[in-house]
Amino acid sequence: MIRTILTYPNPELKKKSVPVTIITDAVRELVQDMSDTMYDAPGIGLAAPQIGIHQRVIVIDISGKDEPPDLIVAINPEIVYAEGEAYEEEGCLSVPDYAANVKRRARVIVKALDLDGAEQTWKADDLLAIAFQHEIDHLDGILFVDHLSSLKRELFQRKARKAAEEKR
Ligand code: NI
Repeated sequence: MIRTILTYPNPELKKKSVPVTIITDAVRELVQDMSDTMYDAPGIGLAAPQIGIHQRVIVIDISGKDEPPDLIVAINPEIVYAEGEAYEEEGCLSVPDYAANVKRRARVIVKALDLDGAEQTWKADDLLAIAFQHEIDHLDGILFVDHLSSLKRELFQRKARKAAEEKR
């Protein structure tokens, strides 16, 4: 089921998510809804708090338009190793109509549980490394705009306030 994606400055996006203790049918349903919502948007990643569920679950699919889908489901994901630096443009389904370059680690190793409760390890670089860092940030209540310099963040906030006022 496609769910509503919460957008900035919804305070639900700032809350920390809690680990999943057992993989129940509810968790499986959550993952299904998250992937439906991500593909519908469309986006390359989604974290549970973006649909108002504060559990540590993310989905990612960075496959291109002409490639078969390649869904990554990561439950309780953790970055266990990071190296290098990246500085690429990012956007977020929760921050519509805005993109900015963000400083990240270039390569990460991520451990997480899959839907069967088995531990999986991903060695990620390029776009996948950035996607993991971006989505795991969501689980800690951090948006990519929180990584901007204070000047850039102020410009973003001013733009967001203006857009909100225009909607009224
Ligand atoms: Ni995002």
